[in-house]
Amino acid sequence: MAIIAQLSDIHLTAGHDGAVDDDSGPVRALRAAVASLLALPARPDAVVLTGDLADGGLPGEYARLHALLSPLPMAVYPMPGNHDDRDALREAFKDHPPVWATGTRPDAPIQYAVDVNGVRLVCCDTKVEGRPHGSMDAERLAWLDETLAAAPDVPTVVATHHPPYQIGIRFIDDMRFTQPETFGEVLSRHPQVVRVMSGHVHRGSVGSLGRTVCTTCPSTYRQLFLDLTRPGRAAVTGEPAGFAVHLVDESGSATTHFVPTGSYRPLMDVE
Ligand SMILES: [Fe+2]
Repeated sequence: MAIIAQLSDIHLTAGHDGAVDDDSGPVRALRAAVASLLALPARPDAVVLTGDLADGGLPGEYARLHALLSPLPMAVYPMPGNHDDRDALREAFKDHPPVWATGTRPDAPIQYAVDVNGVRLVCCDTKVEGRPHGSMDAERLAWLDETLAAAPDVPTVVATHHPPYQIGIRFIDDMRFTQPETFGEVLSRHPQVVRVMSGHVHRGSVGSLGRTVCTTCPSTYRQLFLDLTRPGRAAVTGEPAGFAVHLVDESGSATTHFVPTGSYRPLMDVE
């Protein structure tokens, strides 16, 4: 059994001096999320960070991110979103072998597969340089196909920044994962994939791609206003921040929990 926590859309933001203010909203929010995660009775085996880790993609933002994550005793697996800068991310996380091993070419995707307690976590890179939408070109899809083919019998979860399904909020669907069907074709050849987990939406949601259940994760910082009208109002709200916890067992059963950040102790026992 693997427990994989997912933190997403952290959006640490540096000031004009290139440093991240210790009292800024995203910093306080990430600290609180880390504390909430560590307070869970069952400690996750790993933490995946599904992109938009730094708002401006600046080295100072990643340095602060790295420091803020240091209380986490388990493995942490970062991946890029549309706000991120691959070079700066790779540089800050060069003590994370799978990230550093993705290469030094600025445009080399940050994509890798790791084992988490008997479950495979495959991190994909959907960033399109300079654009808010996401996609995976033929090269990245070929890598995914090959990577999944290497371990057909191991329950596998795939992580992306952009979710491969329609959310229904116009603002976020305008910067969607384009051509998710090509991604879905790859997944359909590998039935050991039991979940796709994504960020980008700043809300928890559940969707599907073919026969694969897909989820998005709340932001550790700001949540997106749920407006399903067209064109709808694009806004962030004061809804509680949070993160996701995925439970995956050896048989391929997968369960996703959405957890609001905060200190929520049991009120009373019920048995
Ligand atoms: Fe974001």
